[in-house]
Amino acid sequence: MNAATGLTARPAWRALQQHFTTLRATHLRDLFAADPRRGERFTAEGAGWYLDYSKNRIDQETRRLLVALARECGVEERREAMWRGERINVTEHRPVLHVALRAPRAAKIVVDGTDVVAEVHAVLERMGAFAERVRGGAWTGHTGRRIRNVVNIGIGGSDLGPQMAYEALRRYSARELRFRFVSNVDGTDFCEAVQDLDPAETLFVVCSKTFTTLETLANARAARTWLLAALGDTDAVRRHFVAVSTNASEVAKFGIDPDNMFGFWDWVGGRYSLDSAIGLSTMLAVGPEPFREFLAGFHAMDEHFRSAPFERNLPVLLALLTVWYVNFFDATSIAILPYDQYLQRFPAYLQQLTMESNGKQVTRDGARVGYATGPVYFGEPGTNGQHSFYQLLHQGTSLVPCDFIGFCRSLNPLGDQHDLLMANLFAQSEALAFGKTESEVRAEGVPERLVPHRCFDGNRPSNVLLADALTPQTLGALVALYEHSVFVQGCIWDVNSFDQWGVELGKQLAARIAPELTTTAPLAHDSSTNALIARYRRRRLPAGTLATQ
Ligand code: F6P
Repeated sequence: MNAATGLTARPAWRALQQHFTTLRATHLRDLFAADPRRGERFTAEGAGWYLDYSKNRIDQETRRLLVALARECGVEERREAMWRGERINVTEHRPVLHVALRAPRAAKIVVDGTDVVAEVHAVLERMGAFAERVRGGAWTGHTGRRIRNVVNIGIGGSDLGPQMAYEALRRYSARELRFRFVSNVDGTDFCEAVQDLDPAETLFVVCSKTFTTLETLANARAARTWLLAALGDTDAVRRHFVAVSTNASEVAKFGIDPDNMFGFWDWVGGRYSLDSAIGLSTMLAVGPEPFREFLAGFHAMDEHFRSAPFERNLPVLLALLTVWYVNFFDATSIAILPYDQYLQRFPAYLQQLTMESNGKQVTRDGARVGYATGPVYFGEPGTNGQHSFYQLLHQGTSLVPCDFIGFCRSLNPLGDQHDLLMANLFAQSEALAFGKTESEVRAEGVPERLVPHRCFDGNRPSNVLLADALTPQTLGALVALYEHSVFVQGCIWDVNSFDQWGVELGKQLAARIAPELTTTAPLAHDSSTNALIARYRRRRLPAGTLATQ
């Protein structure tokens, strides 16, 4: 099947197109009026999470057809192929087995004759032992001082996941340890991260799947220089640097002791690696046991994804709703709105997970898709976002489906503030769905000329995800929920959700331009790039000079 006749020729797709023409004009107000139990009927539960998806522009027929589409697209078969360790990452010819990272010890997943679950647990043991030593003070710095600062150096999946999880689980973390995350090749990131740290008490965790990433290596070199400038002895590197990577030879080349390396495997994608050794900084923060609970949360959602019928399957439902809005309502973005300050980095984390996975223009066999694929994800914690971009969500001209995420119990109960927070979450989803009509506005005595400004059309869809409390377990389950949702979307759009060729061209061009910035050699780019480089050459300061000098 080529793309033009692939997805869009499927019977369920055709039926959805037909169904859409009737449902598009139906208001959520009508759907709720027609079924007084809608708010209970369109819900599902799994792995500690409750999903209310009743405020979506769907009826039972939509759900039936979307589920049929998932079946026709082979979601079940592809899910099982993933679990069997088949090379479903077709362009890189690799298995995709992040589910093995949280499989219980007794499980068995064999890749090329090796039980990868046993390897996973061996690394977890080493991580646990190391984390205990650092947290307990047995692992000291080169001068014998206790480690008080942990700096994670990495970018993309080697930064966003660990940073998000560290922030999310801060309530459970060892407060006597300070954590910093350095990712940007902009020297400001490193300088600001270490400016108040004592090198003798600082441990660098250099995370890179490939250990060839420009930004990470530049920052790791800066860290080594900073450390040695203070401690003066190259032996110090052994006590102050550990690496997390799949590339032992590059780690050794950099000068990090292989004994201080925690490995993972090429069947773990960068954006799916948070629960591998890439989560070492998270384990250092919360300790090995809560980290295991975190993995148990992932696993609980894995089991749910594998066993729940599609009609009650959280990742499947979330994915199908996204497809419904992207492909039928032409939505181009999705808002992720966690009502929990600890989840402040969750939208950024999800951006990589979703957009690097499904921001693709060709199908798995290379044909151009004839339909829209991955939307833009963005978001901020509520209630902050309410005072910034929610105006557009309520009254803008674009349809932006929203995922609200909240917890019934606060980890920091402060007066009635948690009730206020949750009241806002519920109110936002209600306001988006039901809006406010002209007659309701007039009944409030609003002057006629202001009526159009004060109306809310409503009919704006949202999901609400609720868990009892933000724990390592519920966080793991939440991440796995979105991982599998991305997978299901990828199955439907028939894209490879596990490669990221789109980031390569910019990297290649930057590698060509970098040396050109410090010479006067003639330039052979387009006229815009030539002029920008020429201007930069005239105005740049020699390396190491401060702009303020
Ligand atoms: O350039 C994109 C990317 O490859 C991401 O997919 C990845 O998470 C990130 O770079 C970092 O890669 P690494 O862990 O190999 O340094």
